[in-house]
Amino acid sequence: MRVIECDEYGGPEVLHLATRPLPVVLPGTIRLRVRAAGVNPADPKLRQGMFHAVAPFTFPQVLGYDVAGTVESIGPGVTGFAAGDPVFAMLDTLERGAYAEYVLVPAAEAVPIPPGLSFATAAAIPTGGLTGVQMIEEYAQPRPGDTVLITGATGSVGRFAMFAARRRDVRIIAAVRASQRDEAIALGAAETLILGTDGWTGPAFQYVIDTVGGPDVAALCRHIRDDGAIFTAATTPIDPRGLAHTPEFVVVHHDSVRLAQLAQAVAAGELHVPVACCLPLAEAAAAHRLVEAGGNGGKIILEL
Ligand SMILES: NC(=O)c1ccc[n+]([C@@H]2O[C@H](COP(=O)([O-])OP(=O)(O)OC[C@H]3O[C@@H](n4cnc5c(N)ncnc54)[C@H](OP(=O)(O)O)[C@@H]3O)[C@@H](O)[C@H]2O)c1
Repeated sequence: MRVIECDEYGGPEVLHLATRPLPVVLPGTIRLRVRAAGVNPADPKLRQGMFHAVAPFTFPQVLGYDVAGTVESIGPGVTGFAAGDPVFAMLDTLERGAYAEYVLVPAAEAVPIPPGLSFATAAAIPTGGLTGVQMIEEYAQPRPGDTVLITGATGSVGRFAMFAARRRDVRIIAAVRASQRDEAIALGAAETLILGTDGWTGPAFQYVIDTVGGPDVAALCRHIRDDGAIFTAATTPIDPRGLAHTPEFVVVHHDSVRLAQLAQAVAAGELHVPVACCLPLAEAAAAHRLVEAGGNGGKIILEL
C-alpha cells in the first residue's frame, strides 16, 4: 500500500511517498480503506520534532490520526461492522498512521459515518470536535448564563467548543481575527473581540477556553472571576505570571459515543465543519505547508 512517511524530523520536504505491506488485521480491529485523512496543526509540529522529548518518534513514521474510509477487513471478535461500511475515527495519537491507503482501527473507536456526510467532512471532525466539546463538557462545565471567552473560536477546536457552549446557554465572547468576526457571530458568539487589538471591558469571564495561547490570550485571562478557570489546548503556552489562575492544559481523549453524536449533529446541519481544501495523498508536504501557514478557514484533507 502507498503511505506518506518521514525518515527524520524536519520541514515538509521530509514527507515522501513509500510502499508498505498491508497491516495485518488483529483481534478487535478493522482494516480501513482510507478515503480521507485530516491534517491537524499537531501533524507539522510532530514532523518538526516538537514533541520529541515527551514522545520520540521511531522512524520511518506515518503521521495522521483523523481518518475516514470504508471497512475493508474485519478482525476476529469484531461484531457490528460489515465490509464496505463507511466509518471514521480518531486513531491513537501516539501510533497514528492515517496518511496511508489502509490503516488498522480498534473497532471500539470506529464510528459509522451518517448518511449525507462526506469522507472529507468526517475526517475533519475527530480531534477538533472531541477537544472542543471535552473542554466545555468535561473541563469547564459552564452553567447557563456564564460568560465564557473562547479564543480561536472559528477554528477546528474553537467551533466545537462554541457548539457545546451554545447548547448550555452560555454567553460566549469569541476572540478571533477581524476577518472571522461575522463567522463567530453566526456560530453563536454574543460578542467578539479581535485578539491582540481589543481589550475587554465587560463582565469578568467565568471560564477561558483557549485554542491560541500566547501573550494576547494571557492579557485577556486577567479578566477572570475569582472562582473561574482557564483551560487551554494550545501548544503555545499562556504565561501564568500575574494571573489569578494557572491555565490547565487539556489533552483530547477517545470517546466514540461523543464522536457519533458530533457526526450526527454535523450531518443534521446543526454545525458546519468547513473543509478548506482536499489534496491527493502524494501532496502531503503541500498540505503541511498550508496548515503551517494558517488562515485556511477550514480543514486541510488528504484524499485517497
Ligand atoms: N491539547 C490537545 O489535545 C489538542 C487537540 C487539538 C488541537 N490542539 C491544539 O489547539 C490549537 C488549535 O487547533 P485547531 O485544530 O483548532 O487549529 P485551527 O483549526 O487552525 O484553529 C485555530 C484558530 O485560531 C486562529 N488563530 C491562530 N492564531 C491567532 C491569533 N494570534 N489571533 C487570532 N486568531 C488566531 C486561527 O486563525 P487563522 O487560521 O487565521 O490563523 C484559527 O481560526 C493548536 O495549537 C493545536 O495544536 C491541541
